[in-house]
Amino acid sequence: MAETVAETARLRLRAWDGEDEARFYAVMNRPQVMTHLGGVQSPEEWSAAFNRLRGFQRDFGHTFWIVEDRKNGEILGFCGLKRVNAPGAGGLTGAHEIGWRLRPEAWGKGIAKEAAITSLDLAFSRFAAPFVIALTVEGNGPSWGLMTRLGMTRRSDLDFIDERFGPELNPCIVYRLDAGDWPAARAATIA
Ligand SMILES: CC(C)(COP(=O)(O)OP(=O)(O)OC[C@H]1O[C@@H](n2cnc3c(N)ncnc32)[C@H](O)[C@@H]1OP(=O)(O)O)[C@@H](O)C(=O)NCCC(=O)NCCS
Repeated sequence: MAETVAETARLRLRAWDGEDEARFYAVMNRPQVMTHLGGVQSPEEWSAAFNRLRGFQRDFGHTFWIVEDRKNGEILGFCGLKRVNAPGAGGLTGAHEIGWRLRPEAWGKGIAKEAAITSLDLAFSRFAAPFVIALTVEGNGPSWGLMTRLGMTRRSDLDFIDERFGPELNPCIVYRLDAGDWPAARAATIA
C-alpha cells in the first residue's frame, strides 16, 4: 500500500504507486480540469508528467501527492509540494511550491483547502520551507481564490512569462506565504 503522508478529517494524502498512472488519468484528464493547464493531455504527455511527479518525491521527499477520499479510497486529485521549475521563474526557481488539481466532483466542498492546509503544515514543519510559492494565471479564479483564502500574498513583482505556454496562459502570477505568517493565516482560514 502506498505510503500515507497525512490524513485530515475527510482526506488521505499519499504517495503515488505504479497503478496510479492509469487511474489518475482516467478520472482527471478532462477539459474542465485542464482548462488553465494547457488542455487535456495525451497518454504520452501524462506519462511524462507522472514520471516528473514521482521524480519530485525521489529528489525532494515531497511532491503533489494523491488526494483520496478517506471513506472509500477514491482518487479526488492531487495536492502538495514541489519545487518551482517553470521556465522563466528566475529567482523563484527551486523554492517550495504548493499546487492542487481536483476532479470536478470534489470542487466547491472545501476539499482543496483542507488538503492545502495540511500541505502547508508539512511545508513549514517537516520540510522546513522558509516560504511557499503558488503559481497560476489571472483567469483561474478558483485557484487564486484558494491562495487568497489560505492567506497567501499576491506578489505581482514576481510574475513571469512561462515560455511553455502562449498568451492565454501568461503571465504566470505569483502568490507567496512566509513561514512566520502561517500560524495566524492558518487560524484565520479555519475560523
Ligand atoms: C483550483 C481548485 C483546486 C479549487 O477547488 P475549490 O473546490 O474551489 O476550492 P476549496 O476547497 O477552497 O473550496 C471552496 C468552495 O467550497 C465551498 N465549501 C463547501 N463546503 C466547505 C467547507 N467545509 N470548507 C470550506 N469550503 C467549503 C466554499 O464555499 C467555496 O465555494 P465557492 O467556490 O462556491 O465559493 C479546483 O477548481 C480545480 O481543481 N481546478 C482545476 C485544476 C486547476 O486549475 N488547478 C490549479 C492550477 S494553478
